[in-house]
Amino acid sequence: MPRAIVLRAPGAADVLRIEAVTVADPGAGEIRLRQLAIGVNFHDVYVRSGLYQTLPLPGIPGIEGVGVVEAVGPDVTNVAVGDRVGYISPQYGAYAGVRLLPAAQALPLPSSLSDAAAASVLLKGLTAEMLLRRVHRVEAGQAVLVHAAAGGVGRLLCQWGAALGATVIGTVGSEAKAAVALAAGASHAILYRDQDVAAEVRRLTGGRGVDVAYDSVGATTFDGSLDSLATFGHLVNFGQSSGPVPPFAVARLSPKSASLTRPLIFHYLADAARRAEMAAALFAVLESGAVTAEVARTFPLSDTAGAHALLESRDLAGPIVLLPEPADL
Ligand SMILES: NC(=O)c1ccc[n+]([C@@H]2O[C@H](COP(=O)([O-])OP(=O)(O)OC[C@H]3O[C@@H](n4cnc5c(N)ncnc54)[C@H](OP(=O)(O)O)[C@@H]3O)[C@@H](O)[C@H]2O)c1
Repeated sequence: MPRAIVLRAPGAADVLRIEAVTVADPGAGEIRLRQLAIGVNFHDVYVRSGLYQTLPLPGIPGIEGVGVVEAVGPDVTNVAVGDRVGYISPQYGAYAGVRLLPAAQALPLPSSLSDAAAASVLLKGLTAEMLLRRVHRVEAGQAVLVHAAAGGVGRLLCQWGAALGATVIGTVGSEAKAAVALAAGASHAILYRDQDVAAEVRRLTGGRGVDVAYDSVGATTFDGSLDSLATFGHLVNFGQSSGPVPPFAVARLSPKSASLTRPLIFHYLADAARRAEMAAALFAVLESGAVTAEVARTFPLSDTAGAHALLESRDLAGPIVLLPEPADL
């Protein structure tokens, strides 16, 4: 029997334990995937901790993976047995050796991307595409603030934002992470555990502020992001790695005619044509070398708990990928 990580109740990382599971034959419109690599995302931490109650329990967490199609159900025409595909799925189930997936969610991958690289960059890279090209259209000459700039999504925002001609100001939790953000194209790195972010942003922008602040840290950074905006600036809150943002008075936007958005990648990927366009844009910047897929650490699927503990520790810069072992398949 294949194995998967089954979440039975929310809790700390050690609730993530591997179990034998049965995987049925694919039904209409479904495929069965033998997984090659699985992306670990901060979303998975929110699900495991209980902050998000979007996975019915007991359930198999995980929203991103790469695998080979083992079997196809009736009515599947977009992929065939033997194809290698990637996916991002709001139906969860990625923390598994073998899984069923709606065929419509399968994305063809360029052969230049290894399995682990693809699992490290699909969700995070499509999120960067959504943020830089759709939620706010970053133009050359704009000033952009990126929190957690050495993280999975953050590093891609630095690379892609700089490639678009923006001046990227990154915030990071350590000197080592500052070096990562600067190497990725940030012009400046603020140590946000020690420095006043808004004061630093004003100093670095000659008092003007940034056109857009990409904030995935939430509770500890939200006020600083708002205070960092230029007139007409746009605050994009897209995560809460430090905790949820407390209730917010809309009138706080008026001193700068600022705007606030709270996008979710699944909404942007729901339309197949838009998803294909976003993936093509991501694969093009990867192909050009302007953006790079870098795997910071791999863990065996059986040690997903170790992967979550490391992600939450803030000690790592960059993406973690889980690799199924023969016993999981
Ligand atoms: N809205 C969407 O559709 C969407 C899609 C994808 C990702 N996201 C969000 O994007 C963010 C980044 O995701 P990721 O998977 O790439 O993770 P990540 O950035 O690699 O890891 C999170 C980083 O947040 C920082 N952080 C600040 N306070 C923290 C705290 N109290 N606990 C833990 N980390 C803290 C840490 O960097 P420092 O050490 O530098 O502080 C940490 O490395 C997450 O908030 C995620 O939910 C949202």
